[in-house]
Amino acid sequence: MEKKNIDWANIGFGYMPTDYRFVANYKDGAWDEGALTTDATITLSECAGVLQYAQTCFEGMKAYTTEDGHIVVFRPDLNASRMADSCRRLEMPVFPEDKFVEAIEKVVAANEAFVPPFGSGATLYIRPYMFGSDAVIGVKPANEYQFRVFTTPVGPYFKEGAKPITIRVSDYDRAAPHGTGNIKAGLNYAMSLYPIMEAHRQGFDENMYLDPATRTKVEETGGANFIFVTKDGKVVTPKSDSILPSITRRSLVYVAKEYLGLEVEEREVLFDEVKDFAECGLCGTAAVISPVGKIYDHGNEICFPSGMEKMGPVIQKLYDTLTGIQMGHIEAPEGWIKVI
Ligand code: PLP
Ligand code: COI
Repeated sequence: MEKKNIDWANIGFGYMPTDYRFVANYKDGAWDEGALTTDATITLSECAGVLQYAQTCFEGMKAYTTEDGHIVVFRPDLNASRMADSCRRLEMPVFPEDKFVEAIEKVVAANEAFVPPFGSGATLYIRPYMFGSDAVIGVKPANEYQFRVFTTPVGPYFKEGAKPITIRVSDYDRAAPHGTGNIKAGLNYAMSLYPIMEAHRQGFDENMYLDPATRTKVEETGGANFIFVTKDGKVVTPKSDSILPSITRRSLVYVAKEYLGLEVEEREVLFDEVKDFAECGLCGTAAVISPVGKIYDHGNEICFPSGMEKMGPVIQKLYDTLTGIQMGHIEAPEGWIKVI
């Protein structure tokens, strides 16, 4: 298969249309079979549920080219089940999980020419999403929905790549207790736009959100979970009902325990403890593991001993093992890798 002529090493995290996307429609209480299409545009009612009341959710995962030339997707079954959770919370019809995984396989296979080659530093980002498509004017769920999957080749999420970033503690909250923080609803990201732009205007790469009820505990950022390393080499990651259950974080917990023999604590993390950690990173599909060098908190700065030049040693080991599994040169646990 001839690859597209793309400067793989220099693409950022942006949208580039690829040749095919998957579309399925829900009408009269049932999903149709769905099909691939080359049409990248959507025509909608002016009163569509997604436009009026933000009835939409999405997922994100990646396809990789392995060293021996296969194309693989990392744990799409977990994205399928998380999307089903999002749909239930938003009163949207679940797209069957097995059909979700099939749709991912079809779209990636159809866009093979856009899957970045092994070693290029780029990957194919896969974006499944669903939205209410028919008219609703009273506040209620739509009757009709569209489920779609598109792909786009991407490079690093943060322009720094593997260099540590600087973040700040946000004065805004991300998700209310018992709200929608644990699902991937579009509305969670709409509300993060002002705080992220404000962070950028002030020279920070991201926001650290604290728990809204007490503002004493670490939650997550706008698009990734936290992972910390203690001075004695333990991995600590915040547990909260209002953060997104990151598939990368769950995978790293397994990798830390089973591959690296590290002790792992998944628990509430007080912001007050953060200054005592040795390493900090953001983990997610887009972020992979992005090291954090500095956290700014209203005039106080936390500078991690790992510094601003490179990842700390434990985060580097986690990164190498996880990406090794994803790129196929480290053996994956059963069921983690879907070969396309
Ligand atoms: N937290 C938020 C708010 C996210 O948007 C994402 C991205 O999906 C993550 C965490 C990381 O989740 P995952 O590792 O499943 O990509
Ligand atoms: C992902 O990591 O897949 C996400 O959806 C994060 C998003 C903010 C790009």
